[in-house]
Amino acid sequence: MASSPTTFFSVIVLFLFSLSSSSAAKTSSSFRPKALILPVTKDRSTLQYKTVINQRTPLVPASLVFDLGGRELWVDCDKGYVSTTYRSPRCHSAVCSRAGSTSCGTCFSPPSPGCSNNTCGAIPDNSVSGWAASGEFAIDVVSIQSTNGSNPGPFVKIPNLIFGCGSTSLLKGLAKGAVGMAGMGRHNIGLPSQFAAAFSFNRKFAVCLTSGKGVAFFGNGPYVFLPGIQISRLQTTPLLTNPVSSASAYSQGEKSSEYFIGVTAIKIVDKKVPISSKLLKINRSTGFGGTKISSVNPYTVMESSIYNSFTSEFVRQAAARNITRVASVKPFGACFSTKNVGVTRVGYAVPEIQLVLHSKDVVWRIFGANSMVSVRDDVICLGFVDGGVNAKTSVMIGGFQLEDNLVEFDLASNRFGFSSTLLGRRTNCANFSFTSTA
Ligand SMILES: *[C@@H]1O[C@H](CO)[C@@H](O)[C@H](O)[C@H]1NC(C)=O
Ligand SMILES: *[C@@H]1O[C@H](CO)[C@@H](O)[C@H](O)[C@H]1NC(C)=O
Ligand SMILES: *[C@@H]1O[C@H](CO)[C@@H](O)[C@H](O)[C@H]1NC(C)=O
Ligand SMILES: *[C@@H]1O[C@H](CO)[C@@H](O)[C@H](O)[C@H]1NC(C)=O
Ligand SMILES: *[C@@H]1O[C@H](CO)[C@@H](O)[C@H](O)[C@H]1NC(C)=O
Repeated sequence: MASSPTTFFSVIVLFLFSLSSSSAAKTSSSFRPKALILPVTKDRSTLQYKTVINQRTPLVPASLVFDLGGRELWVDCDKGYVSTTYRSPRCHSAVCSRAGSTSCGTCFSPPSPGCSNNTCGAIPDNSVSGWAASGEFAIDVVSIQSTNGSNPGPFVKIPNLIFGCGSTSLLKGLAKGAVGMAGMGRHNIGLPSQFAAAFSFNRKFAVCLTSGKGVAFFGNGPYVFLPGIQISRLQTTPLLTNPVSSASAYSQGEKSSEYFIGVTAIKIVDKKVPISSKLLKINRSTGFGGTKISSVNPYTVMESSIYNSFTSEFVRQAAARNITRVASVKPFGACFSTKNVGVTRVGYAVPEIQLVLHSKDVVWRIFGANSMVSVRDDVICLGFVDGGVNAKTSVMIGGFQLEDNLVEFDLASNRFGFSSTLLGRRTNCANFSFTSTA
């Protein structure tokens, strides 16, 4: 054993050296991520989905309501916004035109974040309350975690992320602790487009909501969930544009930043629900009608006539299976006893709901786990709600129907991809590993 403490020692040194050089490489500015992730957690009391983005200098975690259709990130700048890297873009600058701003503001209070002169105006929109208020555009640093698709990687900084500065009063209606909304909408300054531009990856993102902690991916896949299941083979359908903005306030001629898809029929176990086909189309002059995906509606909302035919067909088929209807529990209109209802891997064994898309072969299937809400031990309700006769959008596919489904928005090719329930693939959206193994 002439060998040796020395050899052993140098092995350790080498090992330590390689560890530190690899971690240095990972945090260096030359590290270019292929994809980023954000956690998306459901707030139990409001049923809103929340994320956290680290922003400002020094970095602070900003808790935000996750808004799929929102045009941009906006935060409350009135209260507690402290940052040495906050900047206001000048009116008519490239940043202002990228943000689509059409106004130039003057602020008569002492200068502070959200109060600058000669900067372009923003109209941050609270899509939960339906209120918008004037504010201004700003630029600051954010730090986001990278991923290789199955585990988180190093945090990376975006030094010049454009966002809207709003006021404290605009937070009304948002989950406790939220300081704004993270807009994932289809716009130049929507977060998916800004993330893609910062690291030159594909303008594409995927969302996997769940009742606990889910995940959003930005950039390229893979999308891998425990126990090592890669979600691929998504069905796809075109993303449609609504030429009329659906925000609470917008500039004339601005198109909607929300994601619309072309549902052409709704079926319950192969039986077509009678619906006026006009309601399923987007009226291109008024912006009414059509189907959008919405993370700020806890349940799918349907225009009254659609809701009524849909519910009666479901109730009829449930009765045919001896499922007993019981008194309704608000906000739902059709509730049942669990007594005669079996339980499967994809939830309660109730009539299957099918959203038929652009072709009769492209169908989004909704099983019990995404159609039935447990309201009491022995009562389940059809998790769809009535949007009224004057509903602007005829069908708004809401959070509960999206949970444990992976949905992908490809902005470059204008395609929407969906997995149908991951429970059928023996995983779920809470199974993304947020543990870094490095
Ligand atoms: C903006 O300009 C006005 C008029 O010149 C001035 O009264 C005001 O204090 C300025 N506000 C800021 C935030 O600098
Ligand atoms: C769109 O809505 C307008 C106003 O309600 C109506 O006059 C028009 O016929 C609608 N267009 C289509 C294609 O339904
Ligand atoms: C429903 O109940 C009736 C009477 O109890 C029975 O004859 C029928 O087979 C049941 N149908 C189903 C689908 O379970
Ligand atoms: C992931 O999800 C599946 C199905 O929902 C579950 O059975 C499994 O135990 C989960 N966790 C891990 C670590 O695989
Ligand atoms: C991602 O990185 C982790 C280490 O952090 C590694 O264990 C895993 O195999 C990688 N996955 C992929 C899909 O590259």
